[in-house]
Amino acid sequence: MTNALDTRPVTGTSEESAHAGATWWRQAAVYQIYPRSFADSNGDGIGDLPGITARVPYLKELGIDAVWLSPFYPSALADGGYDVDDYRDVDPRLGSLEDADAMIAALHAAGIKLIVDIVPNHTSDRHEWFRAALAAPKGSPERARYIFRDGLGENGGLPPADWESVFGGPAWEPVGDGQWYLHFFAKEQPDLNWQDPEVRADFLTTLRFWSDRGVDGFRVDVAHGCAKDLPEVLPSQSELDTMDQDTGLHPLWDRDEVHEIYAEWRGVFNEYDPPRTAVAEAWVPTPQRRHRYASAEGLGQAFNFDLLEADFDANQFRSIITSNLKQSKETGSSTTWVFSNHDVVRHATRYGLPPRGESTTKHGADWLLLGGTRPRLDVEGGLRRARAATLLMLGLPGSAYLYQGEELGLNEVAEIPANERQDPAFFRNPGKDIGRDGCRVPLPWTREGSSFGFGAGNAHLPQPEWFGGSSVEAQQADPASTLSLYREALAFRSRLQTEEDLEWVDSDADVLHFRRPNGWEAVANFGTKPIALPEGDLLIASGSIDGDVLPAETTVWLMR
Ligand code: NOJ
Ligand code: CA
Repeated sequence: MTNALDTRPVTGTSEESAHAGATWWRQAAVYQIYPRSFADSNGDGIGDLPGITARVPYLKELGIDAVWLSPFYPSALADGGYDVDDYRDVDPRLGSLEDADAMIAALHAAGIKLIVDIVPNHTSDRHEWFRAALAAPKGSPERARYIFRDGLGENGGLPPADWESVFGGPAWEPVGDGQWYLHFFAKEQPDLNWQDPEVRADFLTTLRFWSDRGVDGFRVDVAHGCAKDLPEVLPSQSELDTMDQDTGLHPLWDRDEVHEIYAEWRGVFNEYDPPRTAVAEAWVPTPQRRHRYASAEGLGQAFNFDLLEADFDANQFRSIITSNLKQSKETGSSTTWVFSNHDVVRHATRYGLPPRGESTTKHGADWLLLGGTRPRLDVEGGLRRARAATLLMLGLPGSAYLYQGEELGLNEVAEIPANERQDPAFFRNPGKDIGRDGCRVPLPWTREGSSFGFGAGNAHLPQPEWFGGSSVEAQQADPASTLSLYREALAFRSRLQTEEDLEWVDSDADVLHFRRPNGWEAVANFGTKPIALPEGDLLIASGSIDGDVLPAETTVWLMR
């Protein structure tokens, strides 16, 4: 199959190339690094920036176009780094600004762009602004940067409203003088007030700070939450729950004026050549609302989590693909696809679990809570379906976001004792939410040895015994491994990249078959029975192919 790569006509590699100038992001393969769990250079058990720099050859060989780096800023890790103490520095446990410069230079030398995470909805409670707010009196400019309210009842002893935080538990926290502050997420993550001009100006400084250092783009955390309009009398949680979220008028989420913030950011992005890019994390109710974040006057691109939320099902996939491609045509952005990230159960595991219908908890992960990892998990089937789904996705127009470790076909790690867990979502929802630590366990690089090659010390989250068998070392020489599949698919993808279009080819209901403008085809058999392999030169397959049969739950790429 590798030979086929060498003899393929080279299509769409000049002006239309994913790497070209200002449009490099449109069809990029972007690999998400969760820095504390990628590679540890100094043996303290925490992944760091020099660890990433040392692994740039691995990233280059993998064949990605860009890295999206989750927060690496100073943080007490109340929420895995999404509680930022200082937006213009590096957590000393992860390195220094000089290490960041060296990492950026090494990525760029390898032809890889860098997108960094920016967290505008909230700071950490250790940010200098929040410390100043606590030290300052009620009504002060320091408090105006956040969302403070008087409590109810005698001496303000009761919260201003009964709102629940996204991580569970109350969303208002008292500060001891009758006032309370709002936090959508953990109490260590006070929400900023984006009506405050100083807040707005300071984020522009941060965007320039990283852009000046060579960062190519930004992933915008909770982009739909920044603009808030809190009435004098606050609604109750149940009133909030019944308010429409698709009107742009909800007091907390996806308000229309949030786009004024991003229009200002776009002004900064366009000061650079090529313009800096951005991708919004915006959980909004409709694709129409989502695509507002992706406008060329705003952030430019938005995550589309539809496939991540879908079952392994041809019908669901077909309608998601069709509607998102239609939307992106209308807005002029490109679609994004994602199956896994640091917030969800890994897709090799999701596809090995009983269908979502039987599940009572978030992410279909009730089996994790039950403590039964392997028994209810169809490990082989889950991986087979994940490989098929990924190969289909990598053939689609638009950008593909991949999460570290999915190229190893990793399963979610269930075997983390409660006292070693870190995620606030676990601690704030006892017995209800297992949290997100299971997809954040440090990567296995070697079959054996200290922390399976992650570093010389003990990994900050415990790695299971079976990790060695999934390691890079165990997979790299095996042509049938998931790592080889990703490498080969990404090499074909960048070689074959073409206009952002596809045409559906008639197929059985359980099969998805599409053709890209240059004759590159993907055929995914979602069914449980084999079908006849359609005609064309076989480029790559997600499972083994014998003769002219496309097995169940398998995807192939063909060239016609
Ligand atoms: C979304 C991030 O992906 C998640 O990890 C984080 O907990 C929340 N935003 C809050 O910042
Ligand atoms: Ca380290």
